[in-house]
Amino acid sequence: MFGEKEKKKGLSWIDEILNDENGELEDILSRGSKEKKKEDLSFVKSEKVDLEDILSTPTTIDEAATERPTGAEVLEEILTKPVPEKPKPESPPKRPAATLKSILGTPSSTSEAEYDGRAQVLDAYGNVRILKVKGEPVPIYEVKMPKLTPEEEKILRSVREKAITEIQVDPTAIADPEERRRIFMNAVRRMIKEAAPTFSEGRIEILTSLIVQAMIGYDKLDPLVRDDNLEEIMVIGTNRPVYVWHRRFNMCKTNIIFPTDREILNIIERIARQVGRRIDQQSPLLDARLPDGSRVNATIPPISLDGPTITIRKFKKDPLTIIDLIKYGTMNTDIAAFLWILVDGLGVKPANVLVSGGTGSGKTTTLNSLSLFIPPSERVITIEDTAELQLSVEHWIRLETRPPNIEGKGEITMDDLVKNTLRMRPDRIIVGEVRGPEARTMFTAMNTGHDGCMGTIHANSSRETITRLESPPMNVPRIMIPALDIILMQVRFHSRKKGTIRRITEIAEVAGIEGDHVQLNKLYKYDPAKDELVPTGVPSRVLNTLAHHTGLTIRELELEKEKRKVILDWMVEKGIRSIQEVGYYIRQFYIDEEALFEKIEKDSSSHVREQLETIV
Ligand SMILES: Nc1ncnc2c1ncn2[C@@H]1O[C@H](COP(=O)(O)OP(=O)(O)OP(=O)(O)O)[C@@H](O)[C@H]1O
Ligand SMILES: [Mg+2]
Repeated sequence: MFGEKEKKKGLSWIDEILNDENGELEDILSRGSKEKKKEDLSFVKSEKVDLEDILSTPTTIDEAATERPTGAEVLEEILTKPVPEKPKPESPPKRPAATLKSILGTPSSTSEAEYDGRAQVLDAYGNVRILKVKGEPVPIYEVKMPKLTPEEEKILRSVREKAITEIQVDPTAIADPEERRRIFMNAVRRMIKEAAPTFSEGRIEILTSLIVQAMIGYDKLDPLVRDDNLEEIMVIGTNRPVYVWHRRFNMCKTNIIFPTDREILNIIERIARQVGRRIDQQSPLLDARLPDGSRVNATIPPISLDGPTITIRKFKKDPLTIIDLIKYGTMNTDIAAFLWILVDGLGVKPANVLVSGGTGSGKTTTLNSLSLFIPPSERVITIEDTAELQLSVEHWIRLETRPPNIEGKGEITMDDLVKNTLRMRPDRIIVGEVRGPEARTMFTAMNTGHDGCMGTIHANSSRETITRLESPPMNVPRIMIPALDIILMQVRFHSRKKGTIRRITEIAEVAGIEGDHVQLNKLYKYDPAKDELVPTGVPSRVLNTLAHHTGLTIRELELEKEKRKVILDWMVEKGIRSIQEVGYYIRQFYIDEEALFEKIEKDSSSHVREQLETIV
């Protein structure tokens, strides 16, 4: 049901490069036995390296499909070989880890030896260990690197210099990242073989990877970019540890350090080039999106005082869904079912919804989860500054703003895109983050019959949301505000028992304007003692409107809500949570409700069945 296509869709560009499924190791194994492949060599500026020769080791899809281990798997095995010690959980680390310092000749701030007797292993996977160290305020995220001999280090340095000066291939001219990496790997591998003919294939592979990652990858950040457990990667300056935000362990300090501004700048400049931007003294800030969808912000001195910084909000290949939000306690199935009805609109009146909250409170994630409730027959257009949304509808157009180019021309703003969308006959307009003049355009659309608009907005309460909408730079006239139906407030806070949690703390609806005042109905409010969102008992204007438009009674609408609640409860019970699966069953509900309920009836616990019976 969820085949290769879905899996492929989630495969990031970076992973494609780093996992190297068509592996260079495959190349070694098959060298000489394949027919020569001619390529477009227009990107080659110099012939110092025989590119015909480099390019003559093809990697075909057929090869990649063989049963042999992938390049990444073999590499991982090799990487761990010279350090045979396996991390023993709960035991203090015994010997210093090889760090990037030993590989690239640069100092590293931390090593296992520093934690002798003070560390407890919280988790270990791949080449990463997460340690709880006495006296350290946050866990240590330690990337293990292969231990190189002094001879290997010497070769690494000399080949790296040679490669930088001699390989005159412009990496940006090769669109396919896999191809780009293959070309560089082949060139560097040849150089290493020439310089050190006695090295084993495995060691040559390690050195090649390290050099290529520094030349065209994200250098020392590569292992972090590859770790899907990380939500954020934070370079905070020169000679200071890189921090990461781990999905389970939250803020962690890594053993990665950049001893010079230059190393960080190289990465920033590479990212800027990829998106056709420049970062320099005149424009020392950069906002960009990596080809895999991750968001990057960079700052350079003199704006950032302690050296260049990079903040990467990683794109989630496996995004959170409504079922995850229910499991995390952000909302319960009752609320989710209520929101489903509103977003659905029962074919007559989908609600206009804003998810409001502070930075990082999970607004975009909630918006994305709600978007899965959109009926599959509708045409959805999303508008974002940096594309983050991942929907499961088929009829979906993604639009993204464009910053001005180096000459300050060609900017496409959110407002331009919202205006354009109105000419595209949308059923739904989703604006990733509403913050400027596009708010007014969006409200104009809502006031002229475009229902089912959704977006996120930065505010700390439902009242403040209205104030912000009415104030510059959004300037939505008060008379237009009642077109907005629902404000969902989301908050991230720290609970002593549960750590960092995210909760919907309020569901308010705009009831109208009375005198000079926008009326807000609070339908649900968060009760901290119960850690739950509870109904206030105020009757919902939106449900009334829906009843009016559909001809259903409020009781019948309640039943519609119960139906959706059963489906959600069933998915929670069955552990159905991925965006593909959740999207699939929601679609099934719209396409063939009866068949879905038959399936649920056969395939659920007595608890869900009981609920089902009460509806039927
Ligand atoms: N309900 C949730 N429970 C747990 N983690 C969540 C939840 N919602 C979001 N997250 C995680 O929190 C991080 C921030 O989420 P998200 O981007 O949705 O927040 P945001 O409010 O839109 O942030 P921003 O203010 O930067 O736009 C993401 O890594 C996401 O995976
Ligand atoms: Mg957001």
